[in-house]
Amino acid sequence: MSLKKLSVLLIALATAADVLAIPQYATLAGLTERQLAEVVPQMNAKIPPAPPGPLRFGGLKLVDDRDHPWRPLRDGDIRGPCPGLNTLASHGYLPRDGVATPTQIINAAQEGLNLINQGAKLATYAALLLEGNVVTNLLSIGGKTHRTGPDPPSPASVGGLSHHGTFEGDASTTRGDAFFGDNHSFNQTLFDQFVDFSNRFGNGYYNYTVGGELRFHRIQDSIATNPEFDLRGFRHSTAFGESAFIANNFVDGRKTGAEAHQLDMDSALSFFRDMRFPRGFHRAAQPGGGEGVDVIFNAHPLQPGHNVGGVNNYVVDTSRGSLFDQCGIYTYMVNTTIRDLYPNPTGVLRRNLNINLDFLYEAFGFTSADCPQVRPFGRN
Ligand code: HEM
Repeated sequence: MSLKKLSVLLIALATAADVLAIPQYATLAGLTERQLAEVVPQMNAKIPPAPPGPLRFGGLKLVDDRDHPWRPLRDGDIRGPCPGLNTLASHGYLPRDGVATPTQIINAAQEGLNLINQGAKLATYAALLLEGNVVTNLLSIGGKTHRTGPDPPSPASVGGLSHHGTFEGDASTTRGDAFFGDNHSFNQTLFDQFVDFSNRFGNGYYNYTVGGELRFHRIQDSIATNPEFDLRGFRHSTAFGESAFIANNFVDGRKTGAEAHQLDMDSALSFFRDMRFPRGFHRAAQPGGGEGVDVIFNAHPLQPGHNVGGVNNYVVDTSRGSLFDQCGIYTYMVNTTIRDLYPNPTGVLRRNLNINLDFLYEAFGFTSADCPQVRPFGRN
């Protein structure tokens, strides 16, 4: 081979290595204009399709079925802080590697766990805009890949749902706060507390009453130990919402009457730790998600806020919205958080941000009189 040919080959290989260093699901949020100019052309750009609608049949159904066998993780598979999505990936409702499009996530959350269409869309478009790659239309349900051996060097941040601060937040039920180093793995000590609270307040089952007590306890614990504790805006809503999901979407839909919304501890462990449906699991008998959140909140009503200047100094701050001010959440998320992540988007990035911002607005379900749409990047 001539010297010229060899150098062309080496340059091609070096470029390929650069490209491979940035996975197609890595978020573009926070990149400088120079970095974007380099990275965006390497991305497999897609036009985002309209989100899927509700299930045609939204009733009771066996979902631990033959077409969706649970499989253990393989090297390279990604899992994260959400036990719902982890389970859907480990049963093949989502791609098993943990990287998915919004359409795949919404369909999987509906089909496998009967999450209501609006809730599935809201969580998914918020996640894509905050942590995903809006150009390739891909989102990772975690961040760190699963490996049995040592981790290879990886880019500093690839985003994904494990990334702390914009969606993933503090005082989770079975995951630690990011401040303490691991915000996404199952935490046995926290699960022991989940069992203890279920024994004390729910006769061995997790339900809305247990949810109200445990939610408050997790928040109090973080106020007392995490100097960076933050329960403002979107996190105020997701923290209470997730406490309700546990009693709504993880309980077998065949349970009715006094057994409805009562989660036994073996099933809880199966979802939270093993990312696995309990044997023969049937999804909820109707689409849902947030039922009971008012019961959970009202047990210990707590306004949004954060620790200021150290532990045990929780200062209420409603400026970013709250569980009961979804317009405040939406407006802050779009006009401040997303705008800060993308200060000056152009081309395909701007086009896709705008398309996904329309989907997000629609998912919140406002009317323009309730809460007008905000457009930090203009119109396409
Ligand atoms: C029915 C479907 C779903 C269920 C049952 C579910 C359930 C949950 C639960 C219970 C948690 C709290 C885990 C804990 O505190 O230990 C959680 C966390 C989370 N979920 Fe989901 N989820 C579902 C769908 C989704 C979707 C569609 C998204 C977004 C694409 C999402 C994103 C997240 C994220 C980012 C967290 C971490 C929040 C935190 O810091 O606690 N989830 N999920």
